[in-house]
Amino acid sequence: MVNQIVNKIENAPFILEMVETTSNLYRLGWDERNGGNISYLLSEEDITPFLDVTKTIRNIPMDFDGSALIGKYFLVTGSGKYFKNVQKAPSENLGIIRVAADGKSVDLLWGLENGAVPTSELPSHFMSHIARLSVNPNNRIVMHCHATHLLAMTFTHDLDECLFTRTLWQMCTECLVVFPDGVGIVPWLIPGTNEIGIATSEKMKETRLVVWPHHGIYGAGETMDETFGLIETAEKAAQVYTIVRSQGEVLQTITDEQLKMLGERFGVTPKSGYLNL
Ligand code: 13P
Ligand code: ZN
Repeated sequence: MVNQIVNKIENAPFILEMVETTSNLYRLGWDERNGGNISYLLSEEDITPFLDVTKTIRNIPMDFDGSALIGKYFLVTGSGKYFKNVQKAPSENLGIIRVAADGKSVDLLWGLENGAVPTSELPSHFMSHIARLSVNPNNRIVMHCHATHLLAMTFTHDLDECLFTRTLWQMCTECLVVFPDGVGIVPWLIPGTNEIGIATSEKMKETRLVVWPHHGIYGAGETMDETFGLIETAEKAAQVYTIVRSQGEVLQTITDEQLKMLGERFGVTPKSGYLNL
């Protein structure tokens, strides 16, 4: 029949990606309990084969200004939802929302069953989307997780962004190539607040990775794979750092001159001022 939606949304590529990613994050131990959240910017064309976008289930208020995203659709993880459970019940743990015309609420179009709400970190996600879109119109993903070794490093390493970034770059040769923009670091702030959202999004204008000391990390990117890979690469470097420190004295490392040569070879520009040359 014409206009009838026959495709099951559980089979939509963006739902499958979200299920796969949340499951992987859980299995890696970076999203214990309800830890972590993901938001995925979707186009109307992505959704219409699966959903009637004129049907709103309910309206959910937000207490920050999302005017810059009015009319935009997002697939989000639910607040208090366990990544462990997303695979077996996507419609209880995920939701598709559209930023409403008032810019201060979202319309729920699918999921978040039984009165669930979007992640409590929606301010940080939406403000980060706004920041990333201002520098890259193709940005679609914002991902937060409690990556274990990065989190641990915020206790033992200087929290200066330049020093922290350079240590990560030194731990694996690939790091500089994957995140030449380095990592931003916000002060310790209360999660879920507009304040941490503002601080995170300010950093997101310059870098796609933002560390939340003693909590976790935010990553942003054009695709789920790219964003996951970004966090995974930084986390691997932090794991190597952990092992290096536990082994003892460092006898040699990648020099700043070598990092510069690496950047030249791979056509990336290390964040200005981060190498001592
Ligand atoms: P939510 O369950 O509300 O997404 O919060 C989890 C979290 O990681 C908070 O920083
Ligand atoms: Zn968290």
